Amino acid sequence: MTDAPSLRLVEITDDNFDAAVGVQVRDDQNRFVAPVLRSLAQAYTNRSTAWPRLLMDGDEAVGFIMVQFAPDEEDPDFQAEVWRLNISEKHQGREYGRFAVEGALAEARRRGLSRVTVSWVPGEGSPEDFYLGLGFRKTGRVSDSELIAEIFLD
Ligand SMILES: CC(C)(COP(=O)(O)OP(=O)(O)OC[C@H]1O[C@@H](n2cnc3c(N)ncnc32)[C@H](O)[C@@H]1OP(=O)(O)O)[C@@H](O)C(=O)NCCC(=O)NCCS
Repeated sequence: MTDAPSLRLVEITDDNFDAAVGVQVRDDQNRFVAPVLRSLAQAYTNRSTAWPRLLMDGDEAVGFIMVQFAPDEEDPDFQAEVWRLNISEKHQGREYGRFAVEGALAEARRRGLSRVTVSWVPGEGSPEDFYLGLGFRKTGRVSDSELIAEIFLD
C-alpha cells in the first residue's frame, strides 16, 4: 500500500514519457494547444524556465500542464504563464483541468509570485470560459492573436 495521493502532478521522466506523449486532446481542439511531444521538446529548449508536469490519477496519465516561470523576462505578462494545458479527450469534464491549474498556481505561490497569466486562441470551443471560471480575468491585451488573462494570488 502507498500513501501517495491518487490525483497528482508529477515530473516527466523516462519512465512516464510515453504516457505523457499519449495524452491527446480531441482532434478539433488541436488548434488550441500544441501536442505534448512538442511541449516536451520546448521544455528542453527552455529548461531553465519551463515547468512541465504530468497529471496522474492513480496509474493513469490524464493530462499535462506546462508553466513558464521566467522572472528575468522583461514583459510581466510572460514572467509566470500557463503555457500549455492538455486534458486527454476521454478524461475531460472531470475537474482534471481545474486541478492542474490549481497545482500550477500553488507552485507559483511557492515561488513567491503574486500574478500568473494565461493566453488562448479565441473562438468556438476555446478554453475561455474554463479559465474565467477559475478566476482569470482578461487583461484586454492580445498577443500573437491570443487573448491574455491574469489571476492574482493571495
Ligand atoms: C480546457 C480544458 C483544459 C478543460 O479541462 P477539463 O478537465 O475538461 O475541465 P474541468 O473539468 O476541470 O472544468 C472545470 C470547470 O470549467 C468548465 N469548463 C471546462 N471546459 C470548458 C469550456 N471549454 N468552456 C466552458 N466551460 C468549461 C467545466 O464545466 C467546469 O465548471 P464547473 O466547475 O462549474 O463544473 C480541456 O478541455 C482541454 O484540454 N481542452 C483542449 C486544449 C485546450 O484548450 N487547452 C488550453 C490551452 S490554453
